[in-house]
Amino acid sequence: MSRTFSIIKPDATRRNITGAVNAMIEQAGLRIVAQKRIQMTKQQAEKFYEVHKERPFFNDLVSFMTSGPVVVQVLEGDDAVPRYRAVMGVTNPAEADEGTIRKQFAESIEANSVHGSDSDENAAIEIAHFFGDDDIVG
Ligand code: CMP
Repeated sequence: MSRTFSIIKPDATRRNITGAVNAMIEQAGLRIVAQKRIQMTKQQAEKFYEVHKERPFFNDLVSFMTSGPVVVQVLEGDDAVPRYRAVMGVTNPAEADEGTIRKQFAESIEANSVHGSDSDENAAIEIAHFFGDDDIVG
């Protein structure tokens, strides 16, 4: 059993499809063990995406992630990080496989509906941005 961190992004909250995304997460064998809907501040988004701060899309990404509410989540399951990445699909929805969240729902490479951690180490760091141990109930 391991954990990963997920964000349902503003393009998905705007279209009221958080339940549809959660159904795909649960069908993939992941359990939502913590979840909250928040409005990210500019500071939170900049800190969360700090690794991308030199990338040309950084400012647009921060604007997008603060453009509406997001749902931050902790997901638990066997091999949670790769399992969630498989159901999310690749970053660019134009290249995502059939049956993935991004193929089904994403609007663009930026408005790509969901974020998921890329390693166990980053999952722990990202979870700690938004949740304390007491918030996670498996
Ligand atoms: P995410 O998995 O949250 O990690 C970084 C985010 O930057 C990515 O999803 C996209 O929402 C966004 N992004 C925008 N443009 C690009 C790009 N050209 N390459 C990668 N990520 C991008």
